[in-house]
Amino acid sequence: METASGMVLTAFRPRFADYALKMKRGAQVVYPKDLGPIVTYADIYPGARVLEAGTGSGALTIALCRAVGRDGSIVSYELRDEHHAQAVLNIEGMFGKIPDQLDLRVGDLADVGRTGEWFDRCVLDLPEPWGPLETLRGTLEPGAVLCAYLPTTVQVQQLVLALPSHGFLHIETFEVLRRAWHVTERSIRPEHRMIGHTGFLTIARRTS
Ligand SMILES: C[S@@+](CC[C@H](N)C(=O)[O-])C[C@H]1O[C@@H](n2cnc3c(N)ncnc32)[C@H](O)[C@@H]1O
Repeated sequence: METASGMVLTAFRPRFADYALKMKRGAQVVYPKDLGPIVTYADIYPGARVLEAGTGSGALTIALCRAVGRDGSIVSYELRDEHHAQAVLNIEGMFGKIPDQLDLRVGDLADVGRTGEWFDRCVLDLPEPWGPLETLRGTLEPGAVLCAYLPTTVQVQQLVLALPSHGFLHIETFEVLRRAWHVTERSIRPEHRMIGHTGFLTIARRTS
């Protein structure tokens, strides 16, 4: 493609990392720098049965859909109707339709306790993940991996202190810092600006 002044333009389809940052938000999305580590440390694999909450704007849900593939499944709960509706639009925008392996539900994560379903991975991005821990104990298989994404240290502390009494051990908490670099012939240095903080990941295993 060429502009009127002769400039050559090349158009690419957006990568998921671009789409996640540009798509319309109902709730704050998980940033791309954290999406990869969540998928890796929560050990989301092709064929996994994943429980997620809250769906929010659907950025993490999209990453989970890609990671579990067609043989996996995701049940994702969202409390607020308007966030669920925005997530539906964003996920359809990414895949063209809601993937067959994804079940988007409007409701409280705690509702899953009444379904009799079992999962082997659980990813939480909600403000008070310690609340449903006893429900999760009854719906996650022994050995299941739980990953919670939280923005503040007080939330992390409350979760980490609560986890062992609900049968979750092997707990680790970390954050991910991404520093972009400016590279030219004359200078190689970090970019002046970076995203200083998004959230902490806390990972645990269901043991008993
Ligand atoms: C930060 S947003 C999630 C963003 C999402 N991970 C993304 O990448 O787009 C948190 C969401 O959790 C929802 N939420 C809070 N408590 C919940 C609960 N107990 N059950 C289900 N959803 C809940 C909120 O309504 C909000 O939409």
